[in-house]
Amino acid sequence: MSNPVRITIYNHKGGVGKTTLTVNIAFALSSLGKSVLVVDSDPQCNLTSYLLADDVVDDLLNHSNDQRGQTIWSALKPIIDNTGSVRLIDLTEIKDLALLPGDIRLSEFEEFLGDSWADGFKRRIGALRATSSISDLISSLAHQRDFDFVFYDTGPNIGPLNRVLLLDSDFFIVPVACDLFSTRALATLGQTIKKWIIDAGTIDAIAPDGAMVLKGRPKFLGYIPQRFKVYGQEMTWEANSYYEKIKSRVYRDVSSVLREIDKKLAPKASVDPVVDKVQDLASLVQVAQREGVAIWDCEASANYGLKKTAKNSFFRIAKHIVRATAD
Ligand SMILES: Nc1ncnc2c1ncn2[C@@H]1O[C@H](COP(=O)(O)OP(=O)(O)OP(=O)(O)O)[C@@H](O)[C@H]1O
Ligand SMILES: [Mg+2]
Repeated sequence: MSNPVRITIYNHKGGVGKTTLTVNIAFALSSLGKSVLVVDSDPQCNLTSYLLADDVVDDLLNHSNDQRGQTIWSALKPIIDNTGSVRLIDLTEIKDLALLPGDIRLSEFEEFLGDSWADGFKRRIGALRATSSISDLISSLAHQRDFDFVFYDTGPNIGPLNRVLLLDSDFFIVPVACDLFSTRALATLGQTIKKWIIDAGTIDAIAPDGAMVLKGRPKFLGYIPQRFKVYGQEMTWEANSYYEKIKSRVYRDVSSVLREIDKKLAPKASVDPVVDKVQDLASLVQVAQREGVAIWDCEASANYGLKKTAKNSFFRIAKHIVRATAD
């Protein structure tokens, strides 16, 4: 039985590299000898599509509602059907990674989670069980097999599904694009997560003993500026000017907001919590998605310099995560 570190790569802003980072950080961690489970908890199923061939994804989705379905929906279905607890499914193996495949039906589960959250404030046991079901599923899977890390991939929104994923996480990491919209999105992000933590605390305080399973204390591990253009080895002037803004706003909009609840939830002002940076990797990302491999392992590209850059970035990120989560 293991007690893996649970991490969400989260930004409610779309297309900022959450899925790409999740997959490649997971590959880097597994190359460092860590055992990693990636959970496709976004109804878009992009993480699943990255890692599996189209026909395999279609087959999983076509059968996920059946008795022997093998997606996250198949595992959670007994909860929504009110026929029992989560069903343990066989994880899909990709090289050294374990994948809990995603499902478009997860959006149906998300509606159900919205109602359950509201009922949690009324101390309804069934609702609390539903709210905790993804967490329970991961704990059961980790009971069967040792994992060092679990990564939740999230969709681009501030909905009920992302709320339970964040609240079940030990840490979250925020990818940011070096542009105006990403810079401005940080304020919503900080306030949203603060509200979720406070609400989880309220539910926990009024819930019957042991009924609220979500830990409700995700720590801000840091941010990752990504997909910026470089000139020579350096960020372009335009990207760098946004990076400087992001640096100062991360404290104002995220860290200081969470530290109002608990100083342990985010670093103090003197620390820049940048995990590392990932530059624009051009078409390497699409090639890697097509091959279902880490960006630095794709075969159809001969851009060895860029592959090396990608590998170095992701291995630095993985090592940072190992260090930062070790205590
Ligand atoms: N470092 C990068 N360099 C170049 N392209 C990238 C990089 N990271 C991601 N991309 C591309 O940007 C697009 C968005 O990336 P990705 O799907 O990982 O973002 P996301 O935040 O998960 O999106 P969503 O919010 O829809 O889930 C993809 O087409 C991906 O191929
Ligand atoms: Mg995504």
